[in-house]
Amino acid sequence: MTTMPGKVAVIGAGDIGCGWAALCASAGWPVTVFDASAHGLERAAAEVPRRTRALVALERATQGIVERGLLEFTQARSLLQAVQDADWVIEAIPEDAIAKQKLFGSIEQVTGPDTLLTSSSSGIPPAEIFARCRRQDRCLVAHPLNPPELIPLIEVVPAARTSAAAVVRAQEYLRALGRMPILLKKPIPGYVVGRITAAVWRQCIDLVLEGVIDVDQLDRAVSLGPALGWAAAGPHLTYHLAAGDGGVTLFLQELLGSFESWWAQLATWQRLEPEQQRALIQSIERAYKSNIEQLRAARDRRLGAILRVLEQARTA
Ligand SMILES: NC(=O)c1ccc[n+]([C@@H]2O[C@H](COP(=O)([O-])OP(=O)(O)OC[C@H]3O[C@@H](n4cnc5c(N)ncnc54)[C@H](O)[C@@H]3O)[C@@H](O)[C@H]2O)c1
Repeated sequence: MTTMPGKVAVIGAGDIGCGWAALCASAGWPVTVFDASAHGLERAAAEVPRRTRALVALERATQGIVERGLLEFTQARSLLQAVQDADWVIEAIPEDAIAKQKLFGSIEQVTGPDTLLTSSSSGIPPAEIFARCRRQDRCLVAHPLNPPELIPLIEVVPAARTSAAAVVRAQEYLRALGRMPILLKKPIPGYVVGRITAAVWRQCIDLVLEGVIDVDQLDRAVSLGPALGWAAAGPHLTYHLAAGDGGVTLFLQELLGSFESWWAQLATWQRLEPEQQRALIQSIERAYKSNIEQLRAARDRRLGAILRVLEQARTA
């Protein structure tokens, strides 16, 4: 059995880094955060405790463990101080392959050979991220969804040189944090989640910009339509259950023709021109007038409720 990390270091204290730190603190794990900007570090000092304690209100963590974890939450003054005695280093700096390569090159110089190194990248192939590391056997991508302290899915993306032991160890750490890792068999750009969301979002943007539907109605069409079904069953099981007892064989016989005619007409553009970006931003800001903090808190309450009900249904 893998021993749990004595200390976790999170590098980059933006939205994702603070989420990872809140998740670790909520499990009572000692966690240190480092950010290249003093402002980022200051924000983390307030944001991590706030987000960790919010998990108690959302019934995702217990107060005693959270407060114990927060007693051991620290901000490091340097990269060296953050990572030198860490068992697990989580990188969460911006999505820039060169910056990530440089950072991991530096981290490798100051960590022991057994430290697990993971990147939060949303889609850069791991061989590229870890290109400057001499020892890539303990390096892999562990891609969270936003907010990482709430959404349990993590995409685990090993590179060709990642060891099987590192993959097992990462999955055990993640499960101990209440995460549900999925393992990719091949590292492809965008991984699995990014490719699915990019395809669906392009279609959603197209429907709004073509004037078929307003932003709030489109969001409802997804969140109360397919996304609700997918939360319970995923797309393939959904269709396996969509043609009576005939299963997916009958579903394909009955509906494949319709799908093929829609596939032939779906948006295929690959760039969102500045004018289209402006139109999209205007439509979204018109639909959602409250401030981001209020919108995020309401979204998190709904996420907490969905997760609770899904867990109850699973144990039942
Ligand atoms: N935002 C999302 O929805 C989301 C979801 C999943 C994964 N990700 C991925 O997670 C990573 C972080 O995303 P984010 O949205 O938190 O970014 P962000 O821009 O909000 O935060 C990045 C932080 O890293 C700091 N930083 C930059 N260079 C640094 C360095 N060399 N050393 C230390 N700190 C440094 C910045 O000061 C900033 O505070 C990206 O790879 C992103 O693709 C993002």
